[in-house]
Amino acid sequence: MIEIKNVSKSYVKGKKSVDDLNLEIKNGEIFGFLGPNGAGKTTTIRMITGILNIDEGDILIDGKSIKKEPLEAKKNFGFVPDSPDMFLKLKGIEYLMFMADVYDIPQDKRKDKIEELTKKFEIYNDLNNQIQSYSHGMRQKIVICGALLAEPKNWILDEPMTGLDPKSSYDLKEMMRQHAKSGKTVFFSTHILEVAEKLCDRVGIINKGKLVFVGTFDEMKQKFKENASLEDLFLEITEKQ
Ligand SMILES: Nc1ncnc2c1ncn2[C@@H]1O[C@H](COP(=O)(O)OP(=O)(O)O)[C@@H](O)[C@H]1O
Ligand SMILES: [Mg+2]
Repeated sequence: MIEIKNVSKSYVKGKKSVDDLNLEIKNGEIFGFLGPNGAGKTTTIRMITGILNIDEGDILIDGKSIKKEPLEAKKNFGFVPDSPDMFLKLKGIEYLMFMADVYDIPQDKRKDKIEELTKKFEIYNDLNNQIQSYSHGMRQKIVICGALLAEPKNWILDEPMTGLDPKSSYDLKEMMRQHAKSGKTVFFSTHILEVAEKLCDRVGIINKGKLVFVGTFDEMKQKFKENASLEDLFLEITEKQ
């Protein structure tokens, strides 16, 4: 469960990139965070994960404040950032072992888990190569494997489908469904409306730092236009502001 309480953030004085955001992502749900480019999705996700400091408000992950108990809060989630270009000098296996160390995964468990995840995403045979030799999609996959290795209760993913081939994208969506079904939480940002509509139990739409809608797609259709296409609804909600 993720609770975002009255959270604001400015990079430049007087211009709030996230403005008094309130959201609750419950256990057992897949929550999609939608909005046009520059809306404030990544800024929000960086605050949830403790990469950026929060100016005002607080964020709790399974009850632990990322501000006051950052280490405890960080144990409760796995994070896939918007760019997978990191640790490029490491071999895939070195990166995953590093992540296993960070999350204290017992030696006897980590080998099986690494094998299971990397076989699923078809990068098992690439683990002895440096990440810098990987394609964008492969980098995305290894970061996902690293984030899921410790079996975190809350998944936080920033545009996770970007660069994934159709099969991996399908597999990831299935894994997200399974994860939510087992009572855990998935929070992800996307600008692909069709993905959100098929996958999410609820969505939040952010525009210019402000939450402009939260609810199910059905509620969104009822609130705005009954028969409008998803794209029209999205444009109407975000352009009216
Ligand atoms: N490091 C930064 N310095 C200054 N402004 C930033 C920085 N990162 C993002 N912004 C601004 O904050 C706003 C929200 O950006 P972002 O959270 O990246 O949006 P999204 O992920 O929804 O595309 C934008 O106006 C963007 O220009
Ligand atoms: Mg972003």
